[in-house]
Amino acid sequence: MRPVILAIESSCDETSASVIRNGKVLNNIIASQAVHQKYGGVVPELASRAHQQNIVMVVDQAMQEAGVQSTDLDAIAFTRGPGLIGSLLVGVSFAKGMALALDIPLIEVNHMQAHVLAHFIEDPKPGFPFLCLTVSGGHTQIVKVTDPYTMEVIGQTQDDAVGEAFDKAAKIMDLPYPGGPLIDKYAQQGNPRAFRFSQTSMPGLDFSFSGIKTAFLYFLRDAVKTNPDFIKQNLADICASLQHHLVFMLLTRLEQASAQTSIKNIAIAGGVSANSGLRKSLQELGEKRGWSVFIPRFEYCTDNAAMIAMAAHFKFLKKDFCTLEVTPLARMPV
Ligand code: KG4
Ligand code: ZN
Repeated sequence: MRPVILAIESSCDETSASVIRNGKVLNNIIASQAVHQKYGGVVPELASRAHQQNIVMVVDQAMQEAGVQSTDLDAIAFTRGPGLIGSLLVGVSFAKGMALALDIPLIEVNHMQAHVLAHFIEDPKPGFPFLCLTVSGGHTQIVKVTDPYTMEVIGQTQDDAVGEAFDKAAKIMDLPYPGGPLIDKYAQQGNPRAFRFSQTSMPGLDFSFSGIKTAFLYFLRDAVKTNPDFIKQNLADICASLQHHLVFMLLTRLEQASAQTSIKNIAIAGGVSANSGLRKSLQELGEKRGWSVFIPRFEYCTDNAAMIAMAAHFKFLKKDFCTLEVTPLARMPV
């Protein structure tokens, strides 16, 4: 059963490898980098070094667990961008070396397209066209997906990404990086209507998260002045209120996008789609609006090589290969 493709993801702080056979993902090995936690964000230099340490082990494990020999491989795929250049370079160089040694084709994958195509790893798969709200640490986009090869961004953030808003808010509260999952966890015990934060509204289908981040910062700065223990005493309510606002901002735009395009197949992707508040509210909204809602399994929401493998499979079908001169791109449009 062909093709058999090895895919490598190294755009940020997860080193990941996956093997896909004839469109079926066989595994998804991920080595996360704990080294960044104490710095309140990903330190690019440390990320590149950790990828160097992890990549051989991660690829080896993926191949062994899949029961695949290097001679079985039909192509090697890698994330070309967007991402941290030093991190990307590790994956790109490794993939090139392996493709050269095995004399097999090389496939470059756009990380943001791969987040969208993660929906084709498992059933139920969205029908075309669908709208995908892609929300990660670096991006917030509404993508209109016509087929696996045709995607158009119809709305996006004009400043911070929503994942960044989660992470920066967590940093303000002295929570370790990445703060998104922690805010999600504390929010589950809190009252989402306890506090209000003002937000900037953008025209059309675009987003802005810098206004709410600043409002959040000022709110806490003032509250701590009168009660130094304010954050500790109200952590769950603060997290629930912030999450409620951020989810509301995302879903309002998604509703507008669906109305404008008359598309009712609605998907979410990217790290923030792991957020339990977003998942629950999207399900509820979907039921109200008669949408077919598609939410990937947690493991396929945050950065992973299985989604790179899925995107590579589609490219393989079109014989869309790249040359050994390919270079990584920090920025890469969908
Ligand atoms: O897609 P991803 O793994 O990496 C990028 O390509 O950026 O997304 C990472 C982002 C981080 O900002 C992280 O805080 C956020 O996803 N995130 C979450 C949750 N899990 C991950 N944000 C809110 N709630 C979560 N449960
Ligand atoms: Zn990502």
